[in-house]
Amino acid sequence: MIDNLLDSAKQVLNNNFQPKGFSIPCEGLYPFQWNWDSGFIAIGLCHYDFEKAKSEVKTLLDAQWSNGFIPHIVFHNESDSYFPGAEFHKSELSPYAPKDNKTTGLTQPPVLGFVLEEMYHIHKNKDEVLAFVKNHIDQVFNCHKHLYEHRDPKNEGLVYIYHNWESGTDNSPMWDEIWETMTDIPTYEFERRDTSHVDASQRPSNQEYNYYLHLIEIAKAHNYEDAKITELSPFLIQDPLFNAMLIKSNQALINLYEIIGGETEKINTLKAWNMLSKKSFNDKLYDKELKAYIHYDLRNDKPLKYVSSSSFSPLFAGVPDVDRAKEIIDNLMTVFGKEEFYLCASFDPDSDKFNPKKYWRGPVWVNLNWIVYNGLKSYGYNELATRVKNETIELITKNGFYEYFDPRKEVHKDGNGGYGGSNFSWSAALLIDLLKKEN
Ligand code: GLC
Repeated sequence: MIDNLLDSAKQVLNNNFQPKGFSIPCEGLYPFQWNWDSGFIAIGLCHYDFEKAKSEVKTLLDAQWSNGFIPHIVFHNESDSYFPGAEFHKSELSPYAPKDNKTTGLTQPPVLGFVLEEMYHIHKNKDEVLAFVKNHIDQVFNCHKHLYEHRDPKNEGLVYIYHNWESGTDNSPMWDEIWETMTDIPTYEFERRDTSHVDASQRPSNQEYNYYLHLIEIAKAHNYEDAKITELSPFLIQDPLFNAMLIKSNQALINLYEIIGGETEKINTLKAWNMLSKKSFNDKLYDKELKAYIHYDLRNDKPLKYVSSSSFSPLFAGVPDVDRAKEIIDNLMTVFGKEEFYLCASFDPDSDKFNPKKYWRGPVWVNLNWIVYNGLKSYGYNELATRVKNETIELITKNGFYEYFDPRKEVHKDGNGGYGGSNFSWSAALLIDLLKKEN
């Protein structure tokens, strides 16, 4: 049974691996290389094909901008099945963009630091994997440096995102409040492609796409210059998931530099970043009433008081102390862990905005479950971690390697509870990792 699952997962990854050495998230809906997808995919690949795992990371880093920025999509190839493509994003407007790779001017949660560390632990030949880490670790460090230097205008140790597509949780109800602040924006003419692959009722509306495009147009009008984005973007959010990934990756870089040796200055810088980041995270992004980490709207200077699966990601980065960890885990169980739900819904099931079918508004995602699982384990909540792991395996076994899953158990009786893209790479890759882990 487990062997069958592992074989099917490898099959998905093999099919999605492209001749140019990177993986697409899935056919049709996502025909290019996505940043954090590639990170998760590399973890899965590393369990059985180190060459492919290296290539996954390398092809992404090849598209790094000269200022350290790592883009959210790399358009290695032409495809008309996705909008907005390279000709909309026009990364060439930025003097820092690479000449030989077309990319977006957006980024995604910075996972590469901990991905390198995972690869280091997974791959048996330590000399081989360390040689790879040595070749690329500075690139990841430079990416973090860019984030702290250009996306933290108040020097709080909390970096902002300027677009919902940078959050990774693209369609979260969180962003509704921001769209309401964006009045008087032009109406763009465009042709959606996502709705020809996936049921339109599970996707954002055209008006929402209008907001998404407008944010990019502002950045493009200023050649993706960070200072202008800070000054002008109506969307400036300190996102707990994005910042937790950064903190976790900082720690991973510290651990790896210590193994490599001789990089005291970089280690000290990383430690200083993490000390400030963790402090501000706890001071500013923790809501004592909700008992959860939340998002902060930096543009309008106010907290966004919603609980989502992102609220639990700081466990993975070691942000809360043990008392606070207990408080948020109790909350996780009360709100998200009810008998009738699989863990972990992407949005508060008690909220009016919860939608079990619409992407990031309720469905379970394998990557967030993987983050929550590892977070729970690191605080010693092994039983609960095992529940998250087993439920993730069950969802995939019942439905297949979907992009996301309905959290309501009743829906899964007929195996029709998987939505979005099918044969989705990170669902397969992280399943491999979960199956290979002891518990
Ligand atoms: C969706 C997800 C995003 C992911 C992308 C490619 O847009 O919201 O997190 O990276 O698909 O899989």
